Amino acid sequence: MDNFFRYFMVVFAIPLCFFALSAKCRSFDQHSNKLSHFLKISQISASPSPAPEASQPASNRTSSSVFSVLSYGAVGDGVADDTQAFKTAWDAACQADASAVFLVPRHYIFMIQSSIFTGPCKSGLVFQIEGSIMPPDGPDSWPKNYSRRQWLVFYRINGMSMQGGGVIDGRGEKWWDLPCKPHKGINGTTAPGPCDSPVAIRFFGSSNLTVQGLKIKNSPQFHFRFDNCNDVRIDSMNIKSPTGSPNTDGIHIENTNDVKIYNSVISNGDDCVSIGAGSYNVDIRNITCGPSHGISIGSLGIKNSRACVSNISVTNSIIKHSDNGVRIKTWQGGFGSVSKITFNNIHMDTVRNPIIIDQYYCNAKACSNQTSAVYVTDVSYTNIKGTYDVRSPPMHLACSDTVPCTNLTISDVELFPAQGQKILDPFCWNAYGDIKTLTVPPVFCLLEGFPQSFRGNDVDTC
Ligand SMILES: *[C@@H]1O[C@H](CO)[C@@H](O)[C@H](O)[C@H]1NC(C)=O
Ligand SMILES: *[C@@H]1O[C@H](CO)[C@@H](O)[C@H](O)[C@H]1NC(C)=O
Ligand SMILES: *[C@@H]1O[C@H](CO)[C@@H](O)[C@H](O)[C@H]1NC(C)=O
Ligand SMILES: *[C@@H]1O[C@H](CO)[C@@H](O)[C@H](O)[C@H]1NC(C)=O
Ligand SMILES: *[C@@H]1O[C@H](CO)[C@@H](O)[C@H](O)[C@H]1NC(C)=O
Ligand SMILES: *[C@@H]1O[C@H](CO)[C@@H](O)[C@H](O)[C@H]1NC(C)=O
Ligand SMILES: *[C@@H]1O[C@H](CO)[C@@H](O)[C@H](O)[C@H]1NC(C)=O
Ligand SMILES: *[C@@H]1O[C@H](CO)[C@@H](O)[C@H](O)[C@H]1NC(C)=O
Repeated sequence: MDNFFRYFMVVFAIPLCFFALSAKCRSFDQHSNKLSHFLKISQISASPSPAPEASQPASNRTSSSVFSVLSYGAVGDGVADDTQAFKTAWDAACQADASAVFLVPRHYIFMIQSSIFTGPCKSGLVFQIEGSIMPPDGPDSWPKNYSRRQWLVFYRINGMSMQGGGVIDGRGEKWWDLPCKPHKGINGTTAPGPCDSPVAIRFFGSSNLTVQGLKIKNSPQFHFRFDNCNDVRIDSMNIKSPTGSPNTDGIHIENTNDVKIYNSVISNGDDCVSIGAGSYNVDIRNITCGPSHGISIGSLGIKNSRACVSNISVTNSIIKHSDNGVRIKTWQGGFGSVSKITFNNIHMDTVRNPIIIDQYYCNAKACSNQTSAVYVTDVSYTNIKGTYDVRSPPMHLACSDTVPCTNLTISDVELFPAQGQKILDPFCWNAYGDIKTLTVPPVFCLLEGFPQSFRGNDVDTC
């Protein structure tokens, strides 16, 4: 029974909480003995006891206290397991009355196991990373009883800034080479079998977060993932993994709103930024993306699910040497809508599919056509210039047969072939909208006005 309970809490209760209303999550508070049990078995950090003395004098009560992991027994030689020290330091910082600084000091490398840092904390917290942090080296070193889906998780934190000049090294190499990863099996095949690989940094059920100035590299899977969060600001980040590293999205957001992603440089083996269902009010500016798979809304509507995404803008950015530029991708058979999307002032350098809507997204061999689709409407592409990789056309607007895309507006788009002189015609399918200015290449395939046969009120506009 005890084992069952543990299993239940770790495997089911956490994910439940992601999707459930906050009341569900709040019930954890009301059962704090269960909670502390739950915390213990999953190395979740909580702080049931009063904080130990901070390392700064308490005389100046308004000054922030610094909780260095070294003061809590961390070794920082890159070999010792410093998980417990991080956990204890977190508990202390989280319980501090004045705003606390959780410090990962310079010149040290800390090895930490998969952990969950839980709030709420008493006051705003600064998670200052000046040294390096890293997980165990690959799947064989990952303890069997720890989650393989996430490394560091921040849960129910309100008002935290993660920052510093340090490095987060995900040590993803051995995860990318698992035989289950694309082309990593015998003779370049993909072998079946469990393939979970950890997201490096995950925030969920949290709000008012800032992540800035850090370098993060070589995540086993997504570098950052934000679920069920709001009020997130990501600034001046450097995210880097090799081109061939599978599923290493830079920043993935889902069920998260009011997000700002600014001034960051991302190169990896998947999307620089990916925006999943339930996301709205997302502002992305001054991103240099590539090599990568571009900036993506989706994939949405998997397994006939409902997805609502709106008010997303991407401005003043550069996308280079990438498989896609700005992409909206949906599975067939989904519901909901993607609306009020603005792509403005984006420079493309040797990008395949600089502008792409794909409502036939499918990563299996074949997906059958279905009648429902996530409705795509009000998407504007303005001032998108540069070059495209001639292996595919510069514009690809493939909308559902039954649910057309509407109100796509295109102005000041100038895309030239990166190699040779061959101009490829844009591709459109069931795509409606307006061309506001002459474009290069010219777009003749966009259908004008609003589709007569299609009644917009038949679709789920969220
Ligand atoms: C995993 O097992 C180790 C050693 O038996 C133990 O110290 C640790 O607390 C366990 N962790 C979890 C999450 O159960
Ligand atoms: C001590 O508190 C005062 C405000 O009361 C603040 O101006 C000062 O910077 C604090 N000192 C330190 C070392 O943080
Ligand atoms: C957000 O967090 C900061 C501390 O990081 C705090 O000063 C601020 O008041 C918080 N804002 C809201 C709206 O909670
Ligand atoms: C791998 O390829 C080699 C050479 O083509 C072949 O002899 C061998 O049978 C293949 N192995 C498997 C498991 O398919
Ligand atoms: C854009 O971001 C880069 C860092 O990638 C930064 O150096 C530059 O100052 C930013 N530009 C503006 C206008 O903020
Ligand atoms: C759209 O998102 C921006 C932030 O990116 C926000 O300032 C604005 O109020 C949002 N618009 C609507 C209609 O909610
Ligand atoms: C699905 O529909 C598209 C557009 O009509 C068509 O090109 C494609 O061949 C169809 N796929 C299948 C599997 O029927
Ligand atoms: C069409 O899209 C533009 C820009 O995205 C928006 O300003 C406008 O309100 C939309 N028009 C309709 C009829 O929805």
